[in-house]
Amino acid sequence: MTDLDRLEKNLLQQIEAADSEEALESVRVQALGKKGQVSVQMKSLGKMSPEERKQKGPLLNGLKARIGEAIGARKEQLERAALEARLANERADITLPIRPLPKGKIHPITQVAEEVAVIFADMGFEIREGPDMEDDFHNFTALNFPPDHPARELHDTFFLERQEGADPMVLRTHTSPVQIRTMMSEKPPLRVIIPGRTFRCDSDQTHTPMFHQVEGLVIDKQTHMGHLKGTLNAFIEAFFEVDGVETRLRPHFFPFTEPSAEMDVRYSRVGNELRIGQGDSWMEILGCGMVHPNVLKNCGLDPDEYQGFAFGMGIDRLAMLKYGIPDLRDMFAADARWLEHYGFDALDQPNLATGLSR
Ligand code: DAH
Repeated sequence: MTDLDRLEKNLLQQIEAADSEEALESVRVQALGKKGQVSVQMKSLGKMSPEERKQKGPLLNGLKARIGEAIGARKEQLERAALEARLANERADITLPIRPLPKGKIHPITQVAEEVAVIFADMGFEIREGPDMEDDFHNFTALNFPPDHPARELHDTFFLERQEGADPMVLRTHTSPVQIRTMMSEKPPLRVIIPGRTFRCDSDQTHTPMFHQVEGLVIDKQTHMGHLKGTLNAFIEAFFEVDGVETRLRPHFFPFTEPSAEMDVRYSRVGNELRIGQGDSWMEILGCGMVHPNVLKNCGLDPDEYQGFAFGMGIDRLAMLKYGIPDLRDMFAADARWLEHYGFDALDQPNLATGLSR
């Protein structure tokens, strides 16, 4: 074995034995650094005779290359081992709350609108929206309100200043005009809910000039009143998060539905608390019915081919009932303390899997 072979064997052993990146680095300096054992040999080439250099040169170059490679390979091994050790030891706790804790709450109306959307989305409904400023045609005429009929007055309508030659405009008094917009622009089968702002000239503990409704519309060929009741019962159970809610349909009148009904839900009052679902009293909760044939015709649908149901309810009222909010006007008072009390955590998105509200 030559001196060079011995040197190589020795260095390779040291490389193999290096058990940290620092230890390996010191072996590298010892071998390939300026004064390293291999470098010193390389320098000696200068002092050799041409023949000797011819013979030793390739040997030394080979040695240098092999040692360099062995160090590189060992380095990679050590780095991988270090990474694996870190991965095994370190934990990122992604359950930690954000600090400082987020400020601001979700308004109960937004919360309830989202809860309603989640429940109906689960039943296959899509969301549609329409403009706050409506023309007389969509808000009344197409919905089968006869011209100059007192029902138009019943809505305490805000009329907008009349423009020459244009259809009179109103702030929409209900979300029902979006039924018309949907039926005129889309083909059945339709299954939509329509949340949004509505406006009536009225103000007391349970009325504000601006409030919120959600409308439902289902149009298909054989949709009937049983589907209406089943859908609304399923909604009410999911929304109030109670099983076995008892409801009844009580005959009523709306120009755009025939037959029309109001849905009442059983409830009881225990102390200060309303218990929705069971009890001796009935509470009106929404309006509904089968879409009137005239409304279908006004939207270009053949009432001999299509039929369906519609319903409408107040989002704010649902929020007051579910979350025990006594005065509707507080909802719009922009009082931060009120929102702190009645608001919802922005990170808790309502969903049916983990619960609608917390
Ligand atoms: N638009 C009615 C209102 O504001 C509520 C309503 C009742 C909507 C019956 C409907 C319905 O779609 O079928 O008082």
